[in-house]
Order: sequence, then C-alpha cells, then structure tokens
Amino acid sequence: MQFDLFESTANQILTAPSYDLFKQRLKESNCSKCVLLAEARHNIVADRGNPNSNIVLIGEAPGENEDLQGLAFVGRAGQLLDKIMASIGLDTNKDLLILNVVKCRPPDNRAPKPDEAAHCFPYLQWQLSHVKPKVVVLLGATAAKHLMPDQKDKGMKERVGQFFDLPHYPGVKFLLLYHPAYILRDPRKKPEMWEHVKGLKRYMEQEHITALK
Ligand code: URA
Repeated sequence: MQFDLFESTANQILTAPSYDLFKQRLKESNCSKCVLLAEARHNIVADRGNPNSNIVLIGEAPGENEDLQGLAFVGRAGQLLDKIMASIGLDTNKDLLILNVVKCRPPDNRAPKPDEAAHCFPYLQWQLSHVKPKVVVLLGATAAKHLMPDQKDKGMKERVGQFFDLPHYPGVKFLLLYHPAYILRDPRKKPEMWEHVKGLKRYMEQEHITALK
C-alpha cells in the first residue's frame, strides 16, 4: 500500500509539464521515500539558481542552513561556492543552476546512503533532462559516486579537474571539482580548485557556451 502511495506522489512530480511545476510539486509533496530524512527535514531542497542555465552544479545533500531556508548551498560552503564562481564571472543565482544528489538533509550532515540516493535519483534525472545543460559540474566525491558509478574504484585525486563524457548523457560534458566544504576544511587546496575552475571558463570559451540559453 505504502509503495503505491510513494509511486503516485513521485509520478505526479515526475510528470510535471514545466520546471516550475516540478519544483512546486516536489517541495509541496511531503515525499517520504526516505522515512528518516522525511521525518527530520524542514524543507525539501529542490535547487538554487536559474533553470535556464547551460551549466548545472551538483553537490551532495542539503545541510542545516539549506534545510531551514529551502535553498541549495546557502551555508558556508555555498558562500565559498559563490566566490569561486564569481572569480570566473558567474553569478550562482543568475547564471547557474545548483542541485544536489539528495534533496533532504541527512542527519548530522552524513553522506547520503545508497538507498537514499537511489530514491532521489529520478528527481535529479528529471531536472537534468529538462534543463538540458551543456556542462555539469560534479562537486565532490558523493556527486561523482552517484553520477559516475562506473568509476567507483577511482579516487577524487585521480579525476579532479578533468572533463568526462558519460554514456547516459550524450552531448553533456561533466567536470569533477572538489566540494567547497572540502576546501573549507583544507584551504591549502584553494589554488588547485581555482585552476580547475579556470578550466571551466576555458572550456566554455572554447566551445562558445554561454551561461544562459
Ligand atoms: N553541501 C552540499 O553538498 N549541498 C548543499 O546544498 C549544501 C552543502
């Protein structure tokens, strides 16, 4: 019985005819596929930014501030992300769309569990297939793990700063960056992060990709 209820809620969201309606239905849905996360959350965090962007950023999951405000990356990591993107002339609210692998805050900011990521994945897939970005920036190991499952044996170090093509997303370039929370924990990684971000700017220029459609 419960399964049917979950499915009909999810179907209503996933059959939304526009991004705005998808977001509204998701946020108002009281989705409870992940019982633990549903019980503790204040908000389902759909995104932050502009769904008309050619550039989508994917993080891990909402933290405390995101859960309270209902917006992705608005805490300390988000403020750093804003600065990093501003360094290449991109405004996170106007020029980019920021998503997460999981839309509800995991307790104590732990990484989402595989079943939580799997429950939430159809929402992320819907967002990617409707926004149709030209570049997807994966922020950190959790985004890499769930978007690039074929490479699960490879660590961040081997792949960070690199561009990838993924078979399920033809025509989309993926770039792996450090998660901004990692840079907050280890500021020595800042120069490397900035080099990688400049790589994004270079790629956009080379391919004549504008931030907005
Ligand atoms: N970290 C994330 O991965 N996502 C957020 O929205 C905030 C912090």
